[in-house]
Amino acid sequence: MHFSVERLIKAAAEARENAYAPYSNFKVGAAILTKGHRCYTGCNVENASYGLTCCAERVALFKAVASNERDFTAIALTAGIDQFISPCGACRQVLAEFSPNIEIYMANKNGEYVVRSLAELLPDAFKLAD
Ligand code: THU
Repeated sequence: MHFSVERLIKAAAEARENAYAPYSNFKVGAAILTKGHRCYTGCNVENASYGLTCCAERVALFKAVASNERDFTAIALTAGIDQFISPCGACRQVLAEFSPNIEIYMANKNGEYVVRSLAELLPDAFKLAD
């Protein structure tokens, strides 16, 4: 890809700094890459009514969609910890709506990563009947 994986992970790490996570203290950043090589970032945004929290991945995706983007090739996410974090089931389903073959780069605080396709992480995503 024109936009390197390293750059995508760096964008996710920078977005993480804006995370609003006073309840969990678990800050997440994400960066999603469009087919046209544009990058949109997101962070988790929590709420006093906990269930209203939105994950970093969905914030990044929704920003991109609101900017008229529909096709995505990769998404990076990081929680700035030793572990590689994996997107939650809700985010997987929302990503599948637009790009069932998107590659997911799960990065740790050192910029190392594990990559999986969404098809691997969410086989048989829900679809409405034709
Ligand atoms: N979170 C994300 O932003 N992305 C994930 O992939 C998993 C969880 C957020 C939601 C919540 O603000 C915090 O992490 C703890 O669950």
